[in-house]
Amino acid sequence: MNAHTYFENVAQDWDAMSSRFFSTRIRDFAIGVAGVEKGYLAADIGAGTGFMTEGLVQAGAQVIAVDPSGNMLAELQRKFDGLTAVVTRIIEGDRLPVEDQSVDGVFANMVLHHTEAPSHAIKEMKRILKPGGRLVITDLEKHDHLFLKDEHHDRWMGFYLSDIRHWFRMADFSNIIINAIPGEQCCADSKCGSAQAAVGIFMATGTA
Ligand SMILES: C[S@@+](CC[C@H](N)C(=O)[O-])C[C@H]1O[C@@H](n2cnc3c(N)ncnc32)[C@H](O)[C@@H]1O
Repeated sequence: MNAHTYFENVAQDWDAMSSRFFSTRIRDFAIGVAGVEKGYLAADIGAGTGFMTEGLVQAGAQVIAVDPSGNMLAELQRKFDGLTAVVTRIIEGDRLPVEDQSVDGVFANMVLHHTEAPSHAIKEMKRILKPGGRLVITDLEKHDHLFLKDEHHDRWMGFYLSDIRHWFRMADFSNIIINAIPGEQCCADSKCGSAQAAVGIFMATGTA
């Protein structure tokens, strides 16, 4: 099974699963640092079933939620049914389905470690930001839990913060701040129960 099929298959269970992996404090940090307010236009990249979208809408934002998984987005649509503040778009290929310099903020929670080329993904996120707009990525610090690759189809085993800083610089971001989120860990048990992961979570932000 590849990662795309994995997310298509777990879509209906993702909210219950992810609530065991990480807490809503992550999105509170991300949305707080970006200064989201009423009328703000955000893109939620790898939106899944809408974890970040939900917080953004509560903060008054309009959201373009994009994801390669139709089933994940169907769950998100069901949740925000009838709400004009949220639109969904399917990602096909490595170009985001969002116009150049069109959004105030870009958010990507637990997505970078699924991308084929993280440096390219960060450049794409920069492309769609208005000048002065903010990118906020929340993701896993470097770890050595192989079962997250085998069972959760992670492509990257987290990241060194120095690599993230390098990629933000290469994409020409300014005001780059990259830190571990205090007290936050992504927790998962392997299927057989013999391995447990508790991986640090970082937040990386920069201005376009
Ligand atoms: C771990 S889930 C996180 C979902 C959501 N952001 C959350 O916090 O619950 C990863 C999501 O990224 C999507 N994804 C996988 N590859 C991607 C890519 N190259 N670009 C954007 N999203 C991707 C998956 O379909 C999945 O919905």
